[in-house]
Amino acid sequence: MNLRSGRLKGKMSSEAASFTSSLEFDKRIFDADIELNIAHTTMLKEKEIIPEENAEKILDALKELKEEGIEALNLDPSVEDIHMAVENYVTSKIGEIAGFMHTGKSRNDQVATDLRLVLKKELKTIGPLILDFIDKMLKMADEHKETIIVGYTHLQHAQPTTFAHHLLAYTNSLKRDYQRLMDAYKRVDMNPLGSAAMTTTSFPIDREMTTDLLGFDSVMENSIDAVSSRDFAAESVFALSMLASNLSKICEELVIWSTFEFGVINIAYEYSSTSSIMPQKKNPDVAEIVRAKSAILIGELMTILTILKAIPYSYNRDLQEITPHLWNSVDNAKSMLIIMQGMLSTIEVNKERAAELAKSNFATATELADILVREKNMPFRTAHQIVGRMVTEALDKQVSIEDIDSKFLDNVAVELFDKPLELDDAMIKKALDPLENIKARTVIGGSSPESTQDAILKLKQFIANESTKK
Ligand code: ARG
Repeated sequence: MNLRSGRLKGKMSSEAASFTSSLEFDKRIFDADIELNIAHTTMLKEKEIIPEENAEKILDALKELKEEGIEALNLDPSVEDIHMAVENYVTSKIGEIAGFMHTGKSRNDQVATDLRLVLKKELKTIGPLILDFIDKMLKMADEHKETIIVGYTHLQHAQPTTFAHHLLAYTNSLKRDYQRLMDAYKRVDMNPLGSAAMTTTSFPIDREMTTDLLGFDSVMENSIDAVSSRDFAAESVFALSMLASNLSKICEELVIWSTFEFGVINIAYEYSSTSSIMPQKKNPDVAEIVRAKSAILIGELMTILTILKAIPYSYNRDLQEITPHLWNSVDNAKSMLIIMQGMLSTIEVNKERAAELAKSNFATATELADILVREKNMPFRTAHQIVGRMVTEALDKQVSIEDIDSKFLDNVAVELFDKPLELDDAMIKKALDPLENIKARTVIGGSSPESTQDAILKLKQFIANESTKK
């Protein structure tokens, strides 16, 4: 049965048909569309809205299509979309009674429902990928609780920390990415079916029944909203973009840390490439591509929001153009997670170089100021001034951090405040030692091995809890 044969005289031009067809990216909702038609037809039968024998024939044809797969469909662009292709298939099997399937249903509620069904599955695939990624990083963190590195602010040496502490920064942001995605899931898990074109239908359909049959958590309360809204897609893509942005940030660090200048990490050969002209090159291409792919996701989010922002209620064909961007976001996020998990777990830390950097540029100065506060009962701001001046003097006179002693510090204190501090040399040494700095940061979220261990255990517990959820 040709959809156009009633109202429209003649065919759409082939250019217009290809231009408006969604078949290419509808392939992804093929299974969901069959599932939906089965649920809807079952409900129509149960509610005695359509004759039982017709319903049975429709259901048999749909089941047959499910077995045969998408190849059984005619996917010519003139068919418009997957919903018509499925209907045409059923018609080809059982004749015009196939048309009963479309009672109280529109492609508008159908596509919204299909997209939600598929996206639910995708989010449930991505969730465990994130958990897995966190788990791998926790294993790594466990081995690096005393691997000293220097931490940066403004990309300038700031304070010493450990590689484990830094990895835990990654895992904590990924934990929120996971939670955001699972939270978005709740709003994907709502059923638009039964809204039909926009105002529901005068047939006594049972929306609760199709909600149960399709495994949705709830029914969408307003039919106009149900066919108009794609915020579930925008929100999911935002959560994926945030994840991608976090992954990109990690990659940026891998790129920097693997440079000759930093020399802190080594990226495995499996994740590196070389140059076609410079024989010495080992390039971090995988990390770079991840960094760029995050831009693709952000672009998809902008596209989706821009399509949404000014279309009037309710259904507009513009909505169709969101679909490929949704799938592209999902696919990119998945591939980024998988590749990064592999790349990050094969990273080697150059411990000597990292420790060298941590102690060579006064990254422990904060601790020395803290000691002045504790030992001399001095306001922190005063201590900050003394140590700051001491660092400048040391740099000017090319005195290395190992050679800082009580005498050197007192010269500065006397110059600034006419008063020596007379701090113990051993105490100064301890304050300026990166490992001692790290060990002293025992508060929640700190860099000490014990704090790190607690954080690892908490995250492991989180993963265990989440993994048992359905
Ligand atoms: N292919 C369409 C989409 O993806 C399905 C809904 C079409 N509805 C319509 N009235 N033309 O949005």
